[in-house]
Amino acid sequence: MERTFLMVKPDGVQRNLIGNIVQRFEAKGFKLVGAKLMSVSQELAEKHYGEHKDKPFFGELVDFITSGPVFAMVWEGENVIATARNMMGKTNPQEALPGTIRGDFGLTVGKNVIHGSDSKESAEREINLFFAPDELISYEKQD
Ligand code: CMP
Repeated sequence: MERTFLMVKPDGVQRNLIGNIVQRFEAKGFKLVGAKLMSVSQELAEKHYGEHKDKPFFGELVDFITSGPVFAMVWEGENVIATARNMMGKTNPQEALPGTIRGDFGLTVGKNVIHGSDSKESAEREINLFFAPDELISYEKQD
């Protein structure tokens, strides 16, 4: 079954949005298989955002994600990677539709509330970066 990595960013945690965001994915029918409130180290941030290291906003990105706790999650379900991206809305909250997480809560592209993997490859990479295998729970969930 497909898995994705989702992370409520420091702005989302500060604004008490963890519960609202978890509720959306639960209500949609996805299965939560791992979750933790954590600090992101400089090293982890640079690895996670490695593909952006030549972008002008890389420093800003790393500073922001290390600025306060994040809520890291792994969700499982059919087509969860693309569906979660739809539920998050466009990267720039000013373009994200109402009803999406960023459309409802975000204002700027830097502080856009949530991160979600954009492909199977990045999901696998990001899950392995943030979670040890024994932090992911296998269990049966009723539909
Ligand atoms: P995320 O999904 O976490 O992945 C990369 C992040 O880069 C993205 O969300 C945005 O928050 C951030 N980002 C993209 N473009 C810009 C930009 N022009 N300025 C600052 N941050 C950006």
